[in-house]
Amino acid sequence: MADTLTITDNRTGKKYEIPIQDNSIRAMDLRQIKVNPDDFGMLSYDPAFMNTAACRSRITFIDGDRGILMYRGYPIEQLAEHSDYLETAYLLLFGELPTSAQMDQWTQQITRHTMLHENIKKFLEGFRYDAHPMGMFLSAVGALSTFHPDARNIFDPASRQLQTIRLIAKVPSIAAYIFRHTIGRPYVLPDNELSFAGNFLNMLFRMTEPRYKSHPVLERALDVLFILHADHEQNCSTSAMRGIGSSHVDPYSAMAGAAAALYGPLHGGANEAVLRMLTEIGSVQNIPGFIKRVKGGEGRLMGFGHRVYKSYDPRAKIIKRTADEVFEVTGRNPLLDIALELERIALEDEYFVTRRLYPNVDFYSGLIYQAMGFPVTMFPVLFAIPRTAGWIAQWEEMLLDPEQKIARPKQIYIGQKRRDYIPPEKRRP
Ligand code: CMC
Repeated sequence: MADTLTITDNRTGKKYEIPIQDNSIRAMDLRQIKVNPDDFGMLSYDPAFMNTAACRSRITFIDGDRGILMYRGYPIEQLAEHSDYLETAYLLLFGELPTSAQMDQWTQQITRHTMLHENIKKFLEGFRYDAHPMGMFLSAVGALSTFHPDARNIFDPASRQLQTIRLIAKVPSIAAYIFRHTIGRPYVLPDNELSFAGNFLNMLFRMTEPRYKSHPVLERALDVLFILHADHEQNCSTSAMRGIGSSHVDPYSAMAGAAAALYGPLHGGANEAVLRMLTEIGSVQNIPGFIKRVKGGEGRLMGFGHRVYKSYDPRAKIIKRTADEVFEVTGRNPLLDIALELERIALEDEYFVTRRLYPNVDFYSGLIYQAMGFPVTMFPVLFAIPRTAGWIAQWEEMLLDPEQKIARPKQIYIGQKRRDYIPPEKRRP
């Protein structure tokens, strides 16, 4: 016998058998629950999607209680140890790890599309030098749709493949141009002989040397950070990507919206907020006072807590190890002591323990970025570069899912009932 949920409606005494699949019921099955035949039917109310699955997905698995994260079934720890970002992006997008021949072709395709149209440079030059990099980034990604109007053919697999390659290849170039614009240095062209992370570092930091060579430890650390940030199932920005994409707009426009969602301090802007918080705390002696204020409801301990993880974020564990390797090269970030002490106190404090608040991916990543020479405003952009792979994989899965339609949540209207227009002279304040 199939699993069902029996619901008795006390208003009518009627019983309903609702099928259960994958430990969930379909919200549409509630619609049959009515008092009168002309009722709309029962709705489920779930602000902020605390308990609603909006899709069936094969891409990323998270077990928040046990601190497990897997891309296409591969544990994040193994990918961080053995893979690189481009291979991980391939895995997310195509479902399997590439063979050597597939990887060679993929790498070649990405490196061939790293250049930006000269007008993108002009577009970026229009921004003030102190414009926030994330504002510039999401604008430039949106602008790409006007350079590649063929992207509107979203149901053509070849077009989707081309936009996927373009987006993954071009986001580091956009990010690097933004960085150089901010600091007033000339833009550096991509170098196709370098790795994905190595080329990005080249476009960021190259000066007058004929050939830029990044430090292998820093290059690998950046690549590991990219792997860790590549996807995270139905978070705010991915839901934005799927939601916007469900209107069948091109992927550049959808991704501009996803990047905007990532910009917020509760999401990908948290790494920037962590660094600002650590700088504001200033020294270990000020931590107890800061924790007291957080517990009193004055602000949050940024980089802590997660909607899904109710234990240590597995990405944060890997980042902590990576930070040690980076600091061996760059010297220790003086804010690390504050971060470590904050973590120590928070993990023992009843407020954080009872709410199951642990360090998330953003708690230590900013310390690495800062040690590598990035200004804090670049941090959310460094999150967006690798998340591009996840956004596109999720967008494509949504497009090809026959159950998906334009995203359109319902509401429960609690406003005024019908009333007649009041002329201005009869209105009261
Ligand atoms: N500092 C202090 N208290 C917190 C924090 C925090 N960082 N996070 C949650 N709480 C408290 C919150 O006040 C609430 O307490 P109470 O039950 O007394 O009202 C309780 O914990 C549950 O919090 P919530 O806001 O209902 O949880 P949520 O699932 O809606 O929010 C979150 C998740 C990530 C937005 C939140 O934990 C937060 O604001 N963290 C700080 C920002 C941050 O680090 N964001 C990065 C997330 S990881 C990267 C990414 O994927 O974006």
